[in-house]
Amino acid sequence: MSPTIRPRRLRASAPMRRLVAETRIHPAQLVLPMFVAEGLREPRAISSMPGQVQHTLDSAAREVERAIAAGVGGVMLFGVPEHKDAVGSGATDPEGILNAATRFLAERFGDATVIQTDLCLDEFTDHGHCGVLAADGSVDNDATLERYADMAIAQAEAGSQLLGMSGMMDGQVEHARAALDAAGHAGTAILGYSAKYASALYGPFREAVDSSLTGDRKTYQQDPGNRREGLREALLDLAEGADIVMVKPASLYLDVLADVAAASDVPVWAYQVSGEYAMVEAAAERGWIDRDRLIAESITSILRAGADTVLTYWAVELAERLQAQSGARAAGGIA
Ligand code: PBG
Repeated sequence: MSPTIRPRRLRASAPMRRLVAETRIHPAQLVLPMFVAEGLREPRAISSMPGQVQHTLDSAAREVERAIAAGVGGVMLFGVPEHKDAVGSGATDPEGILNAATRFLAERFGDATVIQTDLCLDEFTDHGHCGVLAADGSVDNDATLERYADMAIAQAEAGSQLLGMSGMMDGQVEHARAALDAAGHAGTAILGYSAKYASALYGPFREAVDSSLTGDRKTYQQDPGNRREGLREALLDLAEGADIVMVKPASLYLDVLADVAAASDVPVWAYQVSGEYAMVEAAAERGWIDRDRLIAESITSILRAGADTVLTYWAVELAERLQAQSGARAAGGIA
């Protein structure tokens, strides 16, 4: 017996597959996370994230130029301060590294791309937690909200256009929104890292920001087993006025991402985090997987699950590859 229904017809050639593709990656859907370190003379390699560096202001500017030329949608800045203290003073100091880098880059590139900032205390605290501590050593939610409000104003004043609230404190979006509005920054947008899980995949990031954390973040980041709670966190951020919601990490949490995408009336982003990057790079270095295919497949899968935009350390590389492919196609080179 011979089948009449043959799905393979639509897979028969590269042009046909291209024509019927349900998911495409566009460079504008990619955002590059970047680390800018204080007191550096040269960019410093991050050993657990081969190809990624802690930037100086000048090397960061060159990287943002490259991202813009590749058509990337924006950049997300993280600061690595030289000095840390219990309340993360560097985070609210207008001359602190993250605010200084934001101002430096926003002045130069703020019209050409979207300069975004991570709004969290962990890079700035000597204990490495995302908030300030109460007398008993626990992370004090409501005292932290006051620090976040001051950070939000400092970042908006430095020129950040989108504040990425990644600390997982209750009420952080609402609180930052109120502070921004009261300070005349109603135009500054908020990205809620809404469903953020306590993941082993953040390991390499801890090296990237010279984190001093001992212990874990399980009293504020979510339990990896909890799917419904991811949706709840996203719905809360929407109710609090988030302009964009995000799920993080990406690849292991595609079910949560699909749930949030189905429920959200604002853009939904996903963060392909440091450990997702490191796993692919490490296996590729050993020749165990096809690196370029896996990068494209992983990001395609995150988009397929419902993300509109992906934060990925491969943003520029992949955008350049997509550009080269469409250039070659236009020149009749490939299908
Ligand atoms: C918090 C923050 C973290 C990441 C982004 N923002 C670290 C954490 O929550 O432990 C991780 C990103 C990555 O692993 O690539 N400032």
